[in-house]
Amino acid sequence: MSIENQEKLFNQASQILNDNTWDGRYTVPSANLYPYQWNWDSGFVAMGFAHFDVSRAMRELKSLFEGQWANGMLPHIVFHSKKREGYFPGPSYWESKKVAIAPRHVGTSGITQPPVHGFILEQIFNLHPGNEEVKDFVTAFYPKILNLHRYFYEYRDPNKEGLAFIFHPWASGRDNSPLWDDLVKTIQIKPGDIPPYKRYDNLKADPSERPSDKDYDIYVYLMELGKRHQYDGKEIAKDCPFLVQDTLFNAMLIRSNEALIKLGSKLGLDTKEVEEWNAQSKITFDQKLWVESLLSYAPYDLQNDRHIALKEIGAFTSLYAGIPSDNRASILNDYITSIANRPDGFRVMPSFDPDHNIFDARRYWKGPIWPQMNWLVHQGLARYDFKETANQVKSDFLELVDNLGFHEYFDPRKSVADQLKHGYGGNHFSWTAAVVLDFIADS
Ligand code: SER
Repeated sequence: MSIENQEKLFNQASQILNDNTWDGRYTVPSANLYPYQWNWDSGFVAMGFAHFDVSRAMRELKSLFEGQWANGMLPHIVFHSKKREGYFPGPSYWESKKVAIAPRHVGTSGITQPPVHGFILEQIFNLHPGNEEVKDFVTAFYPKILNLHRYFYEYRDPNKEGLAFIFHPWASGRDNSPLWDDLVKTIQIKPGDIPPYKRYDNLKADPSERPSDKDYDIYVYLMELGKRHQYDGKEIAKDCPFLVQDTLFNAMLIRSNEALIKLGSKLGLDTKEVEEWNAQSKITFDQKLWVESLLSYAPYDLQNDRHIALKEIGAFTSLYAGIPSDNRASILNDYITSIANRPDGFRVMPSFDPDHNIFDARRYWKGPIWPQMNWLVHQGLARYDFKETANQVKSDFLELVDNLGFHEYFDPRKSVADQLKHGYGGNHFSWTAAVVLDFIADS
């Protein structure tokens, strides 16, 4: 891509982050579709801001962590915005203020999302060497992230094996991934189990690009189950049908642990606790989640004691966390190469196995390319020195944004995407902008 084109994309991306900033202190993922502050979106957004306005980067993390609960849990949505029509489920459904340990001054959801904040803090720190304000911020912010990780090890790891569970597909960040299809089929919803609700997402985005109504019934069922248990991980573990040790979620935890260890040693902080967590987590991830017949990692379903053995994007983020041996890393890299070289023409990296009959190139997490996933996969491939695939993952994404705009997700099929005029889902999307900023700054 030419320097002029890179400059154009960089400027457009900074404008999007500024436009999506509300009240001068937090960023919405996309004003129409997601009108509040989201957990891992804001992590990536902070990284994006760090390239042109580091005060906003720091303020983004501060406003997000205003939603942190007293037990350390960081909710997946912080409802800063005044009551708004048009998002389900809003604060009145989650009822966080009925939970004693949730913040009083702001409503939040009761589930979390992949813990990216440790390595985002590290990115911000590394981008501003010698900046005392940044150093003070990182030092002050560090314990909040440590508390979040302590929450996962205390409340979300019942067998004390070093892997955190999630109890809702939204917490995986990959809502309607085919990973969850069989598991959620075991949940029989009876009349009266869920309250009446009205979706808005499928009015604002094309319904063929969003999860189905059946998926939403399950999301509401699990939200109600969490609410009944005051969103307490230990109680939920006893009777929730959806209890999963996810690949992406735990890879993010491990990579963020590693960031805390590195930052801690630079700042003279005690890192013993996080070092112990991480040593165990890395080993358990590599041993327990690898499925030899799949030649990949896979999430583990704790209630049914089995792997969810499908080829899916989450496994490939293990590279960024430095989990696989060189041999396993090569196997993962070979798979990405095989997708990039398919005779039917795919950009990398689709979120789900294109050879599986459930693959759907348009529908949310059933196949499209997602910006933040390409960033994570790119970083992982670079870490293991797979330069060619790392560059491919990056350039395929930049080409999609250049051709189709700053959308939420994209069609991986070249024959289709190259005929389209736009990407899928929301537009003017914050994490798409954030990833563009980092990729271009790193070029
Ligand atoms: N991604 C989900 C949504 O569409 C939940 O955060 O709202």
